[in-house]
Amino acid sequence: MSESGPAIRNLQADGAQYSPPAAFAAAARIHDRSVVEQADADPIAWWEDQARRLAWDTPWTRALDDDDAPFYRWFTGGTLNIAANCLDRHLAERGDKVAIHWEGEPGDTVTLTYRDLHARVCRFANALTDLGVGVGGRVAIYMGMVPELPIAMLACARLGAAHTVVFGGFSGEALGERMVDFGASVLITQDEGWRGGKTIPLKGNADEALDRAPGVRHSVVVCRTDGDINWTPGRDQWFHDLEAAASPEHVAQPMDAEQMLFALYTSGSTGKPKGIVHTSGGYLTGVASTHANVFDLRDDDVYWCAADIGWITGHSYIVYGPLANGATSVMYEGAPGYPGQDRLWDIASRYGVTILYLAPTAIRMFMKWGDQEPAGHDLSRIRLLGSVGEPINPEAWEWYRTHIGGGAAPIVDTWWQTETGSIIVSPLPGLDTLKPGSAGKTLPGLRAEILGEDGNPVPAGEGGYLVLSHPWPSMLRTLLDDDERYVSTYWDRFPGKYLAGDGCRQDADGDLWLLGRIDDVMNVSGHRLSTIEIESALVDHPAVAEAAVIGRSDPVTGEAIAAFVTLRDGFEGDAILIAELRDHVAIRIGAIAKPKSIVFTPDLPKTRSGKIMRRLLRDVSEQRNLGDVTTLANEEVVAAISETAETMRASED
Ligand code: PRX
Repeated sequence: MSESGPAIRNLQADGAQYSPPAAFAAAARIHDRSVVEQADADPIAWWEDQARRLAWDTPWTRALDDDDAPFYRWFTGGTLNIAANCLDRHLAERGDKVAIHWEGEPGDTVTLTYRDLHARVCRFANALTDLGVGVGGRVAIYMGMVPELPIAMLACARLGAAHTVVFGGFSGEALGERMVDFGASVLITQDEGWRGGKTIPLKGNADEALDRAPGVRHSVVVCRTDGDINWTPGRDQWFHDLEAAASPEHVAQPMDAEQMLFALYTSGSTGKPKGIVHTSGGYLTGVASTHANVFDLRDDDVYWCAADIGWITGHSYIVYGPLANGATSVMYEGAPGYPGQDRLWDIASRYGVTILYLAPTAIRMFMKWGDQEPAGHDLSRIRLLGSVGEPINPEAWEWYRTHIGGGAAPIVDTWWQTETGSIIVSPLPGLDTLKPGSAGKTLPGLRAEILGEDGNPVPAGEGGYLVLSHPWPSMLRTLLDDDERYVSTYWDRFPGKYLAGDGCRQDADGDLWLLGRIDDVMNVSGHRLSTIEIESALVDHPAVAEAAVIGRSDPVTGEAIAAFVTLRDGFEGDAILIAELRDHVAIRIGAIAKPKSIVFTPDLPKTRSGKIMRRLLRDVSEQRNLGDVTTLANEEVVAAISETAETMRASED
């Protein structure tokens, strides 16, 4: 493992194991091991079968094209329309079925049937066409969790235009940078968003971003709060005006299976975010297949993935997967603790949620808020629970099962990434024995290995690098405009095998235990952030000479951002400067990247080659024995930093 990588967290199970309840297993979509064995024997045949869930306008001529590996292509020759697969295809049988039960934070609601959603997407697709968006167009989306967000995404998909959704927690500066990189011509945003009873100035941030992105000629604004905003005539237009003026008739055209559906920016181990490129046919096959099989979806399920659409989880398991499967979903706009700490349970009981998909950080927060919150609501319809985004500690797993799952619901701990597009490792709930803390095995049609430094598989029980050793349909195709970085990041380390960037070990039963990232990527509340990106933001402040950022373990958020900063001469490291630096990071990247603690130190621990030893800073932060520091060029700095550990705690937000 790389020296600068985080300390590998080992989540030891207490040995508890749960078999699927007999009735659940008997009724499950996949309850026969031979299905998995067949898929393992012939992954391509499995994926071709899964692709037949979708409606293709032209069948593919080749399932996997690996001529130009690692630039794999799937279902070449095939054509389909993603929006038609998510909407039009369901109209005959499920036109009046609810696609989305939406609830706003203030309590207002919108119910969209498949027919309603289809009409709104068609109108908005026509409106976008009038703004010059067509096949291959580029649209940026910066919104809160409002119904117009999936409508905007599906309208782009319908036209064969690619979208990039930028999470509403990013700053105007971060949005501007992404819009320029993406080459967006249109931005879809909203006046303000609701979060915890307060408003988020999305249009205000977007205005700043638009100043930096002159290529964006139109901004379409959803009216959500009706708050005061600035308006640039000619550039800004109301979403509802465009929608009202447009026709609800729109004939979806077939698109190439490899047409770009979206790019989603994510943090890597350098300062510049990577634009992960996903295409159409393979992506939709992957998300539709895994959404049905992992969540054991039935037609009468009420499914709720309480993530934000600004991240891959929301793209795949709020928008594309569930809609491709004709599911009924719940979508909630606001903060989980508003107005009361039982808001989620109140929503789940009112809509009769049967499947709930959450991040461990949320589960740990609910644990902290107390058992009485879910206990006050009827959650008896919940039959399956999911977890995503970070390793789930066995204690949170058990709490989730007991207090939300009625002591019986299976939990699927799903491991995957922005890059993988869909779930890769997860138990199949009707088939597999569950072990709290383990994500189980790879799903049918997927292959993982745990490799040592030398590229050979490590023995069971030992930690190593998680790689995927067979391509899969929803895999990223490249990094936007950076094929070279795509190859060097994912394929160079072990040729022919996809390097996931996570440490992992496999137990004697073949179950996988994820051990955290092996690179300089942090996972804070399930949000992926790069240490180097935050360091660059800090160094960019006039007071800062040098900065090192680490993720130290945190009981609720998984990791918390800790910054170590050396100042330029003439600056004083006081509480005012700490507040200023935190705000500075919020402006550069977004509030989600604000360090929880900032410690001023006279120097940073470095190796003789000048590399900052983040491992050591993590040890200091987590009050661990520092071990061997003799490889340091500046050993004396360790004592100084250790002394400031106390200061650090005092400086916490
Ligand atoms: O470290 C792994 C962790 O989240 C990373 C991917 O982050 P992102 O691309 O933002 O996607 C998050 C949602 C899919 C992975 O490299 N991760 C995700 N799910 C799990 C996990 N770690 C352990 N267990 C999981 N179930």
